[in-house]
Amino acid sequence: MNARRGFGSGDSAIQAIKDRLNIADLARRYVNLQRVGHRWMAPCPFHQETKPSFSVDEERGSFYCFGCQASGDLISFYQRINGLDFKDALEQLAQEAGVSLRDRPAGPEARAAGDLRRNALKMHEAAKNFYARNLASSAGAACRDYLARRALDEKIIQGFELGWSLDEWGALAALFERSGFNKEQGVQAGLLTKSDHGRVYDRFRHRLMFPIKDLNGRTIAFGGRIIDNADEAKYINSADSPLYKKGGNLYGLFQARRAITLKKSVLLTEGYMDVLTLHQFGYQNSCGALGTALTPEQVKRLAGFCSDFELLFDGDGPGRKAAMRAAEMLMARGLRCKVTLLPEGEDIDSLLKAQGTEAFERLRRQAPDGLGFCMRVLKADYAPKDIVAWTRQFLASLEQPEYFSFYASELAQGLGMEESLIRRDFSHTLIISAQSSRRDNFAANAGLGTAGAGPAGVAGTGGTGKALRGPAVETQVLDFLARYPQYAARLREAGAEFVFATPRGLEFWAKIMDCGPDFAEPDILASLDDKQRAFWTRSRDFERMPASSEKERLQLEQICSGIERLIAKQNNHSRTQVLSQLNDDDYEVEVLKSLHEKLTGKPLVESKNE
Ligand code: GTP
Ligand code: MN
Repeated sequence: MNARRGFGSGDSAIQAIKDRLNIADLARRYVNLQRVGHRWMAPCPFHQETKPSFSVDEERGSFYCFGCQASGDLISFYQRINGLDFKDALEQLAQEAGVSLRDRPAGPEARAAGDLRRNALKMHEAAKNFYARNLASSAGAACRDYLARRALDEKIIQGFELGWSLDEWGALAALFERSGFNKEQGVQAGLLTKSDHGRVYDRFRHRLMFPIKDLNGRTIAFGGRIIDNADEAKYINSADSPLYKKGGNLYGLFQARRAITLKKSVLLTEGYMDVLTLHQFGYQNSCGALGTALTPEQVKRLAGFCSDFELLFDGDGPGRKAAMRAAEMLMARGLRCKVTLLPEGEDIDSLLKAQGTEAFERLRRQAPDGLGFCMRVLKADYAPKDIVAWTRQFLASLEQPEYFSFYASELAQGLGMEESLIRRDFSHTLIISAQSSRRDNFAANAGLGTAGAGPAGVAGTGGTGKALRGPAVETQVLDFLARYPQYAARLREAGAEFVFATPRGLEFWAKIMDCGPDFAEPDILASLDDKQRAFWTRSRDFERMPASSEKERLQLEQICSGIERLIAKQNNHSRTQVLSQLNDDDYEVEVLKSLHEKLTGKPLVESKNE
């Protein structure tokens, strides 16, 4: 429910979308469904296979893969296949279904913003076609020569809809005028520029044009490259507009997304040309960061498609730095990454074209994983005190405390630090910081509620116990339990069920515990609701976090001691509260209520109070 808040009509809108859109029709856009009994089957779009283990149940409006256990409803299918978060998926589907997500009709402001976007999209579509026509015309001869010199295939030129902006100041402006758009609209769309003196002219002139697309294939911005040695910036990009924000998109993602989903990995590079060359040489799962340092927004987009990143960066100083920052960001989110640095003076484009895929493959094979790469750079370029500072900052940046175990021992070993010191130094900070910072991302995504949103925790009375509630620990416990249900008894022993801060979490825990240690996965899946199932499936993605019995036990111990610490603190805290509130008659009742609720998941009925 939490993730849906803010959508006005909320559940009824979701129901209306589900009523109007058929999940089989939607899935058919991406996979080839065959009738089998009362279901539809196909090879799963979410993992690589040829057997049809992906099934769609129209009646129930759900999908399930017997191979990778992906499951969900219409919205989660759309979310996953397009790498969108819930809100974006809902908005797009609502638009398609003609369902309003708001209770009241849009006000004049919202309507104006909608018009602005719609017009900007039309102008981009017109501009893209205009640039493509220019490239094919006699005016584009120099650019065609340039593309030929760079040995770019016609197929790539067409597939990426490259174009040419004329060597004129007002060609696009004139086109807009003919199509009924005024100059101001062109400026708002980021395609025309206004000088300080108020003169309006084409932003892109005399450049090879790269359309930047959203996931629906609509052009939302451009990059433009000079093709001679003019004394100008080599590349310019669109200005921010209602459609495009610097750092929010990736070049080539629209063309790469199917391959990324199938291969479950992405090749990430910096340059426009490099993306095109990679595609030309058969690496269709490639996209580019558009000339900025990799941003959290870009990572979030890509992480919707896969958890396995291969970074391809320049081998010079700035390239190494950028690669390290990107690797840190990916690891902090629990994503897998490898780092390939190009030899100095080479880029992917020149390497592939001069030496072919074999040389490139050799380079890829030697690529260290993200942590190995970072440690290599640390040891080569950093002083001991900076290494310690880096380690501290990196571990503190981990999005989930459970990632700690995956990195701590490797860092200690690789950097020659004492592991127990790292652990002692960080485990405490981790639990506290995770509690306060993770409120609305992971826990909410998993449908586990947010800190402070649910009823009081064990010690949660009088509204002062917030810091002691354990949504982070709760998520940690559930994530671990989903992966290794065989440790259920050990977790219970440690007191796991007393750290749940939300009723949703407790309910989830109870469902899993009900299935017992010899759980059958389909039974559990059947008992979970959509969000819980998504959480469960994600936790059990062993490809994302390969199993290792040693790390597993370390993690178990870390979680158990986290639980024990939390409980000890809670006890302390409630005792202090009891002592300070001895005169408050209601206090005991409150404690009873919340304890009851915690243990049973149901509120205590008033009449049973005495
Ligand atoms: P080619 O030289 O055509 O092979 O392009 P490239 O992509 O290899 O260029 P380079 O390695 O110089 O730069 C990598 C990326 O950084 C480019 O693709 C652009 O996204 C970005 N970039 C490079 N130069 C500029 C510039 O002058 N301005 C802006 N805004 N971005 C640039
Ligand atoms: Mn290049």
